[in-house]
Amino acid sequence: MSIEQLAETAQAMVAAGKGIIAIDESNATIAKRFAGVGIENSEENRRAYRELLLGTPKLGDYISGAILFDETIRQSTKAGVPFTKLMIDNGIIPGIKVDKGPQPLAGCPGEVVTEGLDGLRDRLAEYYKLGARFAKWRAVINIGDDIPSGTCIEANSHALARYAALCQEQGLVPMVEPEVIMDGSHDIDTCFEVTEVVLRSLFGSLYEHNVVLEGTILKASMVLPGTHSGEKASVEEVAAATLQVLKSTVPATLPGIVFLSGGQSDEDATAHLNAMNLAGPHPWPLSFSYGRAMQSAALKLWSQDLVNNVAKAQQTVFARARDNGLAALGQWQS
Ligand code: 13P
Repeated sequence: MSIEQLAETAQAMVAAGKGIIAIDESNATIAKRFAGVGIENSEENRRAYRELLLGTPKLGDYISGAILFDETIRQSTKAGVPFTKLMIDNGIIPGIKVDKGPQPLAGCPGEVVTEGLDGLRDRLAEYYKLGARFAKWRAVINIGDDIPSGTCIEANSHALARYAALCQEQGLVPMVEPEVIMDGSHDIDTCFEVTEVVLRSLFGSLYEHNVVLEGTILKASMVLPGTHSGEKASVEEVAAATLQVLKSTVPATLPGIVFLSGGQSDEDATAHLNAMNLAGPHPWPLSFSYGRAMQSAALKLWSQDLVNNVAKAQQTVFARARDNGLAALGQWQS
């Protein structure tokens, strides 16, 4: 796989006015989302829900790629069309979550490290054959009393860099996601400082592992006050703080940055992205890779009638894609 091909995929992922839909919930995570709206977590319901999302008419107008879970990349529509074919036919690049989730980091209470490196080379080769052209690995950084530690940040950066190098070796664009978690009572300045240290560490590790930045996408968290801080930051403050930390840590050779929504409201996630792009141009396209902020309204509608609400739910997915696609251009109006 040439660097040019990786770079081409990475650029297509952040094409103007387009972003990513994250539908890569593990079975344990989708169980929580389904339970929240009273849907049984059966394999058929998971399949039907992912068919609803991926089958949204004209989704490719605003969505460049979708991140799938291992089960989903092997599934098909009710009519028997593999999801990967449905996606490619609609101009949507198949992506795959390849980490095995965060586990407690021994010796570091309250902190986690993402696992999944063992056997990753073979898994990536299989996913490539199944049609995936990019992958995702999420590291989780918690903020609390005396955390994150340097040990936790380093362990997660090291894992992200090893994953990214393996992805590029196997022809997949690595999406590297160091998520600084919103939960906590920390203020926005603390989130800024932690995000800065985390991103510096990550790009240092990527460099040490010879990861080609031109074929890499960063999935970043925004700089926000902790959910339990009692602090409310304005849209402009969040946009300015996030831009400042990215500009001071992310090399300009990176083809693009996409954001996670992380529990923000749909409206906030869109407004923050729009405000950042209004303040452009920036060294990289800034777009979205939202999970909950793309799906939650549709999931709620679908849960009310799994048979008859499919089209209505798809209209909601399309509307969220359009709003976020416009925000990726700084053209969204609330
Ligand atoms: P949220 O947008 O719901 O945070 O999910 C994005 C994601 O893929 C987290 O890894």
